[in-house]
Amino acid sequence: MKYGYFDDAAKEYVITRADTPLPWINYLGSDGFFSLISNTCGGYSFYKDAKLRRITRFRYNNVPHDDGGRCFYICDGDTVWSPAFLPAKTALDAYRCRHGLGYSVFEGAKNGVSAALTVTVPMHTDMEVQKLVLKNESGETKALTVYGVTEWCLWNAVDDSTNFQRNWNIGEVEIEGGTVYHKTEYRERRNHYAFYSVNAPVDGFDTDRDTFLGRFRGWSEPQAVELRTSFGSVAAGWAPIAALRLNVTLAAGESRTLLFRLGYVENPPEKKFAALNVINKEKAHAMLAAFETEAQFDAALAELRSYWETLLSRFTVQSSEEKLDRMVNIWNQYQCMVTFNMSRSASYYESGTGRGMGFRDSCQDLLGFVHLIPERARERIIDIASIQFADGSTYHQYQPLTKRGNADVGSGFNDDPLWLVACTCAYIRETGDFSILDEPTPFNNETGTEVPLLEHLRRSVSYTVTHRGPHGLPLIGRADWNDCLNLNCFSLTPGESFQTCSNFESGKAESVFIAGMFVKYGKEYAALCDRIGLHTEADEVRASVGEIERAVLIHGWDGEWFRRAYDAFERPIGSRKNAEGQIYIEPQGFCVMAGIGGADYGRRALASTEKLLGNEFGIEVLHPCYTEYHDYLGEISSYPPGYKENGSVFCHNNPWITLAYCTVKDGNGAFDLYTRNAPAYIEDKSEIHRTEPYCYSQTIAGRDAKTYGEAKNAWLTGTAAWSFVAVSQGILGVRPDYDGLIVDPCLPDSMDGCRLSRLFRGTRYDITVRRGANKGLVVDGKAVSGNCIPLTSSPSCLVELTI
Ligand code: BGC
Repeated sequence: MKYGYFDDAAKEYVITRADTPLPWINYLGSDGFFSLISNTCGGYSFYKDAKLRRITRFRYNNVPHDDGGRCFYICDGDTVWSPAFLPAKTALDAYRCRHGLGYSVFEGAKNGVSAALTVTVPMHTDMEVQKLVLKNESGETKALTVYGVTEWCLWNAVDDSTNFQRNWNIGEVEIEGGTVYHKTEYRERRNHYAFYSVNAPVDGFDTDRDTFLGRFRGWSEPQAVELRTSFGSVAAGWAPIAALRLNVTLAAGESRTLLFRLGYVENPPEKKFAALNVINKEKAHAMLAAFETEAQFDAALAELRSYWETLLSRFTVQSSEEKLDRMVNIWNQYQCMVTFNMSRSASYYESGTGRGMGFRDSCQDLLGFVHLIPERARERIIDIASIQFADGSTYHQYQPLTKRGNADVGSGFNDDPLWLVACTCAYIRETGDFSILDEPTPFNNETGTEVPLLEHLRRSVSYTVTHRGPHGLPLIGRADWNDCLNLNCFSLTPGESFQTCSNFESGKAESVFIAGMFVKYGKEYAALCDRIGLHTEADEVRASVGEIERAVLIHGWDGEWFRRAYDAFERPIGSRKNAEGQIYIEPQGFCVMAGIGGADYGRRALASTEKLLGNEFGIEVLHPCYTEYHDYLGEISSYPPGYKENGSVFCHNNPWITLAYCTVKDGNGAFDLYTRNAPAYIEDKSEIHRTEPYCYSQTIAGRDAKTYGEAKNAWLTGTAAWSFVAVSQGILGVRPDYDGLIVDPCLPDSMDGCRLSRLFRGTRYDITVRRGANKGLVVDGKAVSGNCIPLTSSPSCLVELTI
C-alpha cells in the first residue's frame, strides 16, 4: 500500500494522507541552520550542532508522537484546523505534503479555505522561512484568526530535558512588534539568540507556553486558540514560546500571504546589547528585511531549486527502469547529502544529543558525496584524519563543533583506520588532487604533531599489519564494522554500554571482515603508492596483502562461505561449526569484492549468502539468529532474533553484496538484490516497511522477527553512500580512476542499455550504453581499447559503449 507518489519532474515525494505509518520527514538547510520537518509539520531546528544549539524544542518518545513543532492554527467560525493536519487534528477536506529537495510544502483545505504552507531554509541564511498562502474559495467573506507558534529549546538539548531545577528559572524573551526574541542565557555567557516573526502587524501574542495552552491542554487545543485570543503573556522562566496571532479577513476569492521567519543570530561579545539587557537586534532586522516579501521568498526558493538541479546533474541515468532512475537521479544522492550534513546526529531516531561524527561512518559517507562536493570532502578527510593517533589507531567519533575526538567512546575499533584509506583514495580518483596527501595533518588534534596526510594512511595500513592474531588475521579490537560483535567485552553488567565497557583485550579475537577490507584497501593503497612513485612501499604492502589473503584462504574459508571471525578462545564465528550465527554477510561482501579465492569462491560465497541469508527485502546479517545472550559475542546477541545486527536486513551492507555480484559479473544477481530494498521499489509495501519510501533506512526486520519487513532508523545510515556506490559504480559501472573514467556496467538481462551523464574533472561525459555484437568503447568517435575513457581537457565528451 502507498501513502503518496513520486513526482519525478518536480523532484518531490507527494504524501497524500497525513496518517503515514510513522512521521515521514525531510531535511531543510545546507550549512549552519538546519531543520527536520515531518509530513505533519513536526520536527525541530538547530544551528550546526543538534545538541549544543537546539533552537526549537522536540520531545522524542512523546505521546502522541511528533506533536508540537511548527504549530499553525486557522480558526474559521467554530472550526480550528492546521494546514498539515497537526497539531489541530481536524479532518481536512484536502491534504498533501510535498517533500522536495530542501523544502516541504503542505497543502490543506477546510470549509472553502485553502492554505499552502511552504517551508524552507534559504541558502546563505540562518533562518527557516514559512510562507503561508491563505485563499478563500468559499464564495463568501471569511473572518479568520490565524496563529503561528513555536516552542523554544533552552539551547543545550540535554540540559533542556534534564536540568529542570535550573531550566524553569532562566527563560527570557523580548517582544518587538510582530517578533518574539528568545534570549535565554544571553544575559550571561551566550552570544546568540533566536527569533520568530511574521511580516504583518500582529493582533496579539503569547510567549509563555502554559498561559497560551492553559491547564490540562496540549498543542491540539490551546486555550488561547479556543478563545480566539492572546493573553500577551511575557515568559519569565518556565517554557518560553512565540505565539503570534493575526486576524485575517478574506473576501470571496481573496488570498493573503504571510511570511513567518524563525532565525538564529550570533553577536560578537562587544556588540551583544543595544541597552542594559536589551539585545542588539541589528542582524535580526537585516535578516527579516531580506524576507519581507513573497518575491524575496520565491527568489530564494528558485535559487535553492537551481542549486539542487546543478548538483544532481553531476550524475544522471536514463534507463527503462523508472524506479532506478528516480533513486539514482534524485533520492539516493539527496540522502547522501543529508548524511554529509548530519552524519549520525539528528533524525527521528538519532536524538541529536548522542553520537557526533563517526570515524568509519564519515569515511564511508564520503564515498557517496565526493562527486557532489569534492572541496568539502577534502576538508572532511582532514578533519577525520586529525583525530587519529600516532600509532594508526583512532578515536571512534568526534564532535562537529570542536572537531575533537570523543574520549567517552575512545578507540579500539580496528576497522576504523582502513576506512581512511578507502575515502582518501576515492577522493583522489574523483578529483585528481594528489596534493591532499601532502596536507599537514595532526595526530589527536595536537599542534606540532602534523605530518603529511599520506603518513596517516601509511600508519592505518601498518596498524592492521602489526595487529594480527593467532591465525595471522587482523585483531578485531573492541569491534569492527559490526559494532555489536564484541568479542573482547564479556559484559555481564546490566545496562553497561558495549561500546565503552572495559575491554578485555584477549589478543586473540580476529576479524575475517577486516582481513577482506585489508586485501581490498591494501591493494588500493599499493596502487596509490605506485602512482606517486613509492614502488618499494607498494611492493611491501602487496606482500602483506598476500599474507593476509593466504590467512583468509586457510583460516577464513568455511567450505562454502567466508567465516566471520575468531573469538577470544580462538573458536570460529560464522562457521558451520556454530549452532547459531553460522554465516554472516560482511565477509561475503568484502572478501568477494577483494577477490579472495577468485570468482569460484566468490560465486560459492554468494550462492550460500542468498540461500541462507536472503529474504524478500534483501540479505540478513546472519543466520540462524542468536536466541540467547552470549557474553563472548556481546551486543549482537542482545537483540531479539531478526532485529538490528542479530539477523535483520542491515541495509548498509547489502550494497557490498551487490558489488560482490558485480565483481563476479553477475548483473542479474546485483540488480535483483538492489531492487529488494531500494526505497522506490518497495514503495507499495509502505504499510509493512513503514519508514519513508524515498530514503533508505538502516534496518529491516528479518524473517525471525515478530514484525518481518518493518524498517527502522531512516535517513542517517551508511546505506545511502554504499547504495549509491553500488548502483553508480557497480551496476551502471561508472568508476573514477586516477587517469580516466572507467565505464564497466554490470546490467541485468532485463536492461538493454542506458544513457549516463557524468561530470568528472570538469568534463561532462555523455555515455550511451547498449548491447550489440561490436563490443567496445568509442570516445568522441574513436575506438578506445579497454574500458577507461582517458582524461580530456574538453568540456564535453561523447561516449558509446557496446556490451
Ligand atoms: C553504526 C556503524 C556500524 C553499524 C553496524 C551503525 O549504527 O553507525 O558505525 O558500522 O551500526 O553495527
